Amino acid sequence: MSEKVKQKFDGYADKYDEWFMKNENLFTSELRLYKKALGDITGKKLLSVGCGSGLFESYIDSSGIEGIEPSEDMGRIAEKRGVNIIKYGLIEDVELEDQSYDIIYFNGSSSYIADLAPVYAKCLKALRENGRLILLDVPKESAFGLMYLLGTSLNTYDHEYLKGTMPKLPYPLALASSGAWHTTEEKIEVLKKLGISKFSFYQTLIKNPLYTNEEPEEVTEGYKSGGYVAIIAER
Ligand SMILES: C[S@@+](CC[C@H](N)C(=O)[O-])C[C@H]1O[C@@H](n2cnc3c(N)ncnc32)[C@H](O)[C@@H]1O
Repeated sequence: MSEKVKQKFDGYADKYDEWFMKNENLFTSELRLYKKALGDITGKKLLSVGCGSGLFESYIDSSGIEGIEPSEDMGRIAEKRGVNIIKYGLIEDVELEDQSYDIIYFNGSSSYIADLAPVYAKCLKALRENGRLILLDVPKESAFGLMYLLGTSLNTYDHEYLKGTMPKLPYPLALASSGAWHTTEEKIEVLKKLGISKFSFYQTLIKNPLYTNEEPEEVTEGYKSGGYVAIIAER
């Protein structure tokens, strides 16, 4: 009998949602970016790669959204929230029909995938003409990215070097340290090599992480300042 492989987010479904709920203003900022990046989804066919617990999807009309999610813990919650999970598994192991989606998006999921080129290539093929691949992530080079890398290398956020710099409730260290963090430029390069030339960028979480949860932030154009960045690539 084959044993179920433990996925990175197994056992963290409650902690993940709880972290966002306790960091309500940070969540609102990220949700604003998510909504801005998706735009009007009326009548469109969407795929959320690594949809997790469907937390963000639960704030929009999720009825036309399909999901792929390796962690059953997370995916079962997403299903209850209206996401149609087409596969419990890794995007690497899924076959997608050519030209079948208007939008495919990775909300925070690219940060857990080391080799992005084959995965993005697969998704671009599955997009219809003028379809969009949307990548939302914490950039490796941002204050948040550096905080996760520091926490990982020190094996704690509670270190004297970091005294006075940490937000009250930093992202769970186990999830920060299992990430494969990428810079925004790295992802742009991967997409350019795959033939993409039309890009737009939006960002939020401009403040230092210590102050991010004080109030929701606006979404602005660009990618060079934000702790959460959306790359929109048009096919
Ligand atoms: C940071 S969470 C984001 C979850 C959700 N998209 C959200 O925004 O709340 C990253 C998600 O990517 C999933 N994931 C990790 N590696 C993956 C892969 N290779 N293929 C698909 N999903 C993956 C994880 O299980 C996890 O649910």
